[in-house]
Amino acid sequence: MSEWDGKSFDFVCPSPTHYPFQWFWDSAFHAIALLHVDPELSKVELRSLVQGAQPDGYIAHMLLWEKSRSPHWLMPEYSIRLAHPFYTATIQPPVIARAVERIFDATGDAAFVREIFPPMVRFFEWLARVRDQDGDGLVAIIQPDESGLDASPKYDEAMGISGDPPSETLPALRRSMQRLFRGYEGLGVEREPQIDLFLFEDVMMNSIYADGLRALAKLARAVGLDGADEYERQYRRTLDALVEKCWDAKAGAFWDLSGAREEQVRVLTFTSLFPLILPDLDPGIAKRLVNEHLLNEKEFWLRFPIPSVAASEPSFDPGWLTQTTWRGPTWVNVNWYLYWGLRQHGFADVAHELARRTVAMQAVGGIREFYDPRSAVGQGATDFGWSCLVLDMIAAEKVAL
Ligand code: GLC
Repeated sequence: MSEWDGKSFDFVCPSPTHYPFQWFWDSAFHAIALLHVDPELSKVELRSLVQGAQPDGYIAHMLLWEKSRSPHWLMPEYSIRLAHPFYTATIQPPVIARAVERIFDATGDAAFVREIFPPMVRFFEWLARVRDQDGDGLVAIIQPDESGLDASPKYDEAMGISGDPPSETLPALRRSMQRLFRGYEGLGVEREPQIDLFLFEDVMMNSIYADGLRALAKLARAVGLDGADEYERQYRRTLDALVEKCWDAKAGAFWDLSGAREEQVRVLTFTSLFPLILPDLDPGIAKRLVNEHLLNEKEFWLRFPIPSVAASEPSFDPGWLTQTTWRGPTWVNVNWYLYWGLRQHGFADVAHELARRTVAMQAVGGIREFYDPRSAVGQGATDFGWSCLVLDMIAAEKVAL
């Protein structure tokens, strides 16, 4: 039972030593990995998560169920912004719809889908209303960690930080986060994106948003709920907007849009490839992403792919010198998403090789938060939950890896 109104909770900690709370996209990944342990636990994980849903539809990126057990997490130098004593004022990518789709595919449990659908849909509606105020089909994040990619170098310029020297990156990021938090103080949620302090129409966030709308349409049809055609329409609209506004035909890559002026941010990270997760992405574009970038040994096809930042970028930090996240190491949730994207776009052989190297990486590095893409040395948190997504890739391959 939690100090938060005596609510009961039950979830997998992302890492017992490093991350003691319930995180939004981590839980969705855990639910998928748990399908290979016990599908009932997948449902328990998401039921606990949607207890965080607010009357306006909002769901926070962290639910602080056992706050008093971990007071160090709430110290000012740790950059979180609270909306309530027990949850943050920050979002994360809506992976939840893909998780519910996978639970339904695995169990056929229509009653579970009907139970979880209302809070899930209301969160998608919140995103459209509050974070797509220019109505272009792309939702915006208003601080870097809302994509889940806290310190990705694609945000450096907007955050006014540099990767040099590496020891300065994290302190500079923290200062810049505090600046954002001061700027948002006292503003309502509708107003926050309007002041254009940090505004990113992020390619990964929007690929996951579009994929979620696709999953909502499929689930609504499968269990006889209203709205399927509308979710489908919104899905295609977001996909079209990604291609129209973020695709750079010359570079063969997708770029995030920064600020109200929507300037393309040309820093090559794995997110430039992320629309591959959408089954309806144009096959010609998918082919270019794979052949020109994903399989490029100077960029992403390293010994243990797929690095979070292309090896060709000056900010690429595979050895974790900056001691902060998403600046070069390989993460299993990225490999998992792109694995399924590769399969659905006809690159089963590349997907197989990616699965094989992911397993090999974990054989060396263990179940860690992320890995050095050159050596597979494990870095960051230990016993990291979503790294167990490898189980899903192993099960899908049906052959020894
Ligand atoms: C780190 C990651 C974020 C994740 C959290 C909990 O902050 O950058 O994406 O949700 O840890 O695992």
